[in-house]
Amino acid sequence: MNDGTIPTAGEKTAGGRTAIEQSAIDQTATDQTATERAAGGQGPAGVMRPHAEEQYAEELALLAAADERPRPPGWRLSPQAVVTYLLGDGAKITPKYVGPRRLMEVAVSTLATDRALLLLGVPGTAKTWVSEHLAAAISGDSTLLVQGTAGTAEEAIRYGWNYARLLAEGPTDAALVPSPIMRAMRTGSIARIEELTRVPSDVQDALITVLSEKSLPVPELNTEVQALRGFNLIATANDRDRGVNELSSALRRRFNTVVLPVPASADDEVEIVARRVAQLGRALELPEVPAAMEEIRRVVTIFRELRSGMTEDGRTTLKSPTGTLSTAEAISVVTNGMALAAHFGDGTLHPGDVAAGIVGAVIKDPVSDGVVWREYLETVVRERSGWLDFYRAARDA
Ligand SMILES: Nc1ncnc2c1ncn2[C@@H]1O[C@H](COP(=O)(O)OP(=O)(O)OP(=O)(O)O)[C@@H](O)[C@H]1O
Ligand SMILES: [Mg+2]
Repeated sequence: MNDGTIPTAGEKTAGGRTAIEQSAIDQTATDQTATERAAGGQGPAGVMRPHAEEQYAEELALLAAADERPRPPGWRLSPQAVVTYLLGDGAKITPKYVGPRRLMEVAVSTLATDRALLLLGVPGTAKTWVSEHLAAAISGDSTLLVQGTAGTAEEAIRYGWNYARLLAEGPTDAALVPSPIMRAMRTGSIARIEELTRVPSDVQDALITVLSEKSLPVPELNTEVQALRGFNLIATANDRDRGVNELSSALRRRFNTVVLPVPASADDEVEIVARRVAQLGRALELPEVPAAMEEIRRVVTIFRELRSGMTEDGRTTLKSPTGTLSTAEAISVVTNGMALAAHFGDGTLHPGDVAAGIVGAVIKDPVSDGVVWREYLETVVRERSGWLDFYRAARDA
């Protein structure tokens, strides 16, 4: 396809750089524009969900200014400052992750080594959330993301081609479409892969060279992209998908695994839900509904009891429903309840506003979960003092 008259990427351009080097520089220039925009704080106006580095630009700037510890090459913050960003400092830095500090220390220090990080856990344990914030704090860019699915192709991990240009010009660097991972290698940033175990095994194996050699060969251009310092990879995988496309042992050896647990105590989980509900309410510009701690605690209690198959006092064993009843679902049940209360209620969150959401979250399978829920309702909810309003609302829902 290449007739020899077109300079290939290995040849030098006028500036004395190879085409790939030049393109890396162009790419960095685009990235800087994104960072400058992020410095504005909230990101582009009207955007539904600004990236973490945009939303928390102020906190990141504060941390960077005060950070006197050594930063690994290519990092914007020291590992200690990244952990502070994640867990908060009780003052201006808000906590993003609620959970054991040690886990975050292990995750962050892994990223400063040549091993990649695998975040594992049941649904809704903040794997995606933590990986976004890690990338934002370390590289100032959480957007270098590959969403893993059964249909993820090798191009998503390596590179593809702009076919119009490929046909017109032959394989040139301008016709090459880099994957987010290749872009992260060129800029020395953190790349993210979501749901790695859903990706077909042969596609997963494309990562082995990237992780062990820190380079991505481009045989069509007779060249390679070598990762700049600062490059690393965070993958997330769901415990429930275990066995779908198990990671090959060659790949697994290149990852350190951190398992994110479900919140240890009901108080922790209430804190997480309350915090996220307040943030989401602000982001959605829902009319103010007073943070109804009582309803939040009720949702969390129900979810924890059904999840663990035991009432809080340990007296009654329960059947567990088929769904996961994750913290993430508790957050969305409460947020939906707030929207109901704000738009159709009297502006305060009542049991009736969360009841339908809870029933919907618990009953995923109409037959078996229906039995579990009715038994819980009649034996636990009905007898509990102060829960009569909720019992009535749930029975009607
Ligand atoms: N320990 C926690 N600390 C802070 N937030 C949490 C915690 N656990 C859950 N969350 C919240 O739950 C929500 C969902 O988290 P996220 O989407 O990251 O879960 P996930 O583990 O990626 O789930 P899935 O396996 O379904 O992809 C986020 O809004 C996050 O803030
Ligand atoms: Mg996720």
